[in-house]
Amino acid sequence: MIKEFTSEDIEKLEKLYRAAFVNSLGGFKSVVLIGTTNSQKHENLAVFSSLFHIGANPALCGIIVRPSEVPRHTLNNILELKQYTINHITDSFYVNAHQTSARYDENISEFKEAKLTPEYIDSITAPFVKESKIKFACQLEQKIDLEINGTILLIGKIIYVSIPDNCLMTDGSVNLEAAKTITVSGLNSYHTTKKIGSLSYAKPATWPKEINL
Ligand SMILES: Cc1cc2nc3c(=O)[nH]c(=O)nc-3n(C[C@H](O)[C@H](O)[C@H](O)COP(=O)(O)O)c2cc1C
Repeated sequence: MIKEFTSEDIEKLEKLYRAAFVNSLGGFKSVVLIGTTNSQKHENLAVFSSLFHIGANPALCGIIVRPSEVPRHTLNNILELKQYTINHITDSFYVNAHQTSARYDENISEFKEAKLTPEYIDSITAPFVKESKIKFACQLEQKIDLEINGTILLIGKIIYVSIPDNCLMTDGSVNLEAAKTITVSGLNSYHTTKKIGSLSYAKPATWPKEINL
């Protein structure tokens, strides 16, 4: 049996059920840890699943921050110091990563509470996650307030990347499976992945070919 939902049906769903339903409807998402600090050097770490690619030249990515009825430490720190780190999560520390979503006070470090290790790299003020294999740093370039629901889009320029050489493929793409990077659905289900293939650039009148990377 197929279930159908209209926008009115979705609006009538119980709040938490609706959040889980709508949040997982878009499919598997990127899941990362965002590391920041403020001018008092209070470190902050939070799990985010809204990271998306905006463009490669310049190298830009976006994150969506939820509306702020409660203090949003990641947002405040990024607005204050303009730098943040983005750290991939592996199956060996996904529970620790999830724990960073708990609402801790500003002066409590989620690194400590979630048993993860801050790591600093020259010239980047924000902390990285030592346990993370693939990590990069962004400089805030643009903040856009989305009127439709009060969320905030932060656009960052990628200014530094750290990646093991066995996680880089010959065409420049990142081998996420070699890094054991995980993915998320909804707000609380974490998944490992299995690659099914890489395909040639699609053109009209030809059929994509399998390519070895
Ligand atoms: C899997 C998962 C994904 C999340 N993604 C986001 C997100 O994209 N944007 C957001 O604002 N909060 C997201 N959250 C919630 C934050 O992790 C949570 O609000 C956290 O307390 C924010 O910490 P901060 O106040 O230190 O920034 C997510 C939580 C989980 C469990």
